[in-house]
Amino acid sequence: MPDVMRADLWHSMADAAGLIKADGTIGETIYGQMTALAERTGAVNLGQGAPGTAPPAELIDAAADAMREGYNQYAPGQGFPALLEAVARQRRRDFDQQVSAEDVLYTCGATEGLTAAVLALLPRGGTVLTFEPFYDGYPAAVAAAGGSLVTVPILPTDEGGFEPDWVRFDDAVGADTAPSIIIVNTPHNPTGFMFSAEELARIGHAAVAADAWILTDEVYEQLILDDTAHVAPAVAVDDSARVVTVSSAGKSWNATGWKVGWVIADSEVLRAIQAVKQFLTFTASGPLQIGVARSLAGSSDFVAVNRDSLRRRADVLVSACRAVPGAIASTPAAGYFTVVDFSALTDLDAFELNDLLARRYSIVGIPVPALCRAGSPAHEAYRSSVRYSFCKSAADVDRGARLFHDLAAELARDPHALRGEN
Ligand SMILES: Cc1ncc(COP(=O)(O)O)c(C=O)c1O
Repeated sequence: MPDVMRADLWHSMADAAGLIKADGTIGETIYGQMTALAERTGAVNLGQGAPGTAPPAELIDAAADAMREGYNQYAPGQGFPALLEAVARQRRRDFDQQVSAEDVLYTCGATEGLTAAVLALLPRGGTVLTFEPFYDGYPAAVAAAGGSLVTVPILPTDEGGFEPDWVRFDDAVGADTAPSIIIVNTPHNPTGFMFSAEELARIGHAAVAADAWILTDEVYEQLILDDTAHVAPAVAVDDSARVVTVSSAGKSWNATGWKVGWVIADSEVLRAIQAVKQFLTFTASGPLQIGVARSLAGSSDFVAVNRDSLRRRADVLVSACRAVPGAIASTPAAGYFTVVDFSALTDLDAFELNDLLARRYSIVGIPVPALCRAGSPAHEAYRSSVRYSFCKSAADVDRGARLFHDLAAELARDPHALRGEN
């Protein structure tokens, strides 16, 4: 058969996402690896950000009704008008973002929207700037578009929060290789950091100076756990025509498997992105689009109820992590995750530590350096940090919390328990 290696695009995409193993073969994503580790060791899986609680019955009923009503063939390429209208209304209602249905494109999750936008908008050889740690889809999309990625770290502060390194940001946008696209994930995975209106305006000014697009990733937009409001970048940036908004229903409605996402942009820009998207999936999830449309447009209080439930689960998990003496657990402002820095307790890196915690204490998370580029300042800063998801079922979160308390008790007996195989 022909040599699979004679085409190198798939290889560079996997390589950009850090999936090429030492022997040149392709490895499983970090989420798959950690799920397998949890299964192998019988540990509680606090890794992948897939909710352990169900979507609301009204969402499932609406999709089932749509199937019975006959929404089972190809949806229009831009998406069903009911969904486009519902998304436009939701953006106006929740974020004061002035959007009309013709500015909305259905995509197969935020992932397809982000990849299609990068493929459509990045000039060949262009640069994309993003904040780090990052969602692993970004580097693969940039590699597919033949571009290069520069990153700006979001780092822990002494006050227990997180802060982008604005000096590095200014350097990166002012460099000869100024970015053509700036990706802004707010609320941010994994830190829960939310960009303020002022910070977004600052990014907007930099984008004007560099003549860059701002591509947003707002999949956690509804999952705000403190009293800060989510600010949509398109609202805070003066030149909003250069903002391409991406989001999806998966996280807000506990339906990550439905892959109902959307891109919002001025119609000319949207057409360019749709030109790429139509040859990736053309269209998908027809009846699920209708289900999401009806739930978004209806009077469901699910999103608020789910937010309260997530807050409770976050409290349980974060306080258990804090019981571990020396561990620094972040208080998430938004999203699904707490980031726990174990560096005062161990000289192991996050991968080795996660392995040890799985085998000895039955806890699995995602090593934060897996969401960073090898050798970057963020990779170094999060060297011994692990991300734990509290979007799991209450039973799993309770079990995780008990296991952290067991670990705390063990460390009280033996302060060197996490120092590796001694
Ligand atoms: C920051 C971020 N963006 C995008 C996605 C994927 O969104 P979707 O499932 O809608 O493709 C995720 C999922 O974990 C994420 O954390």
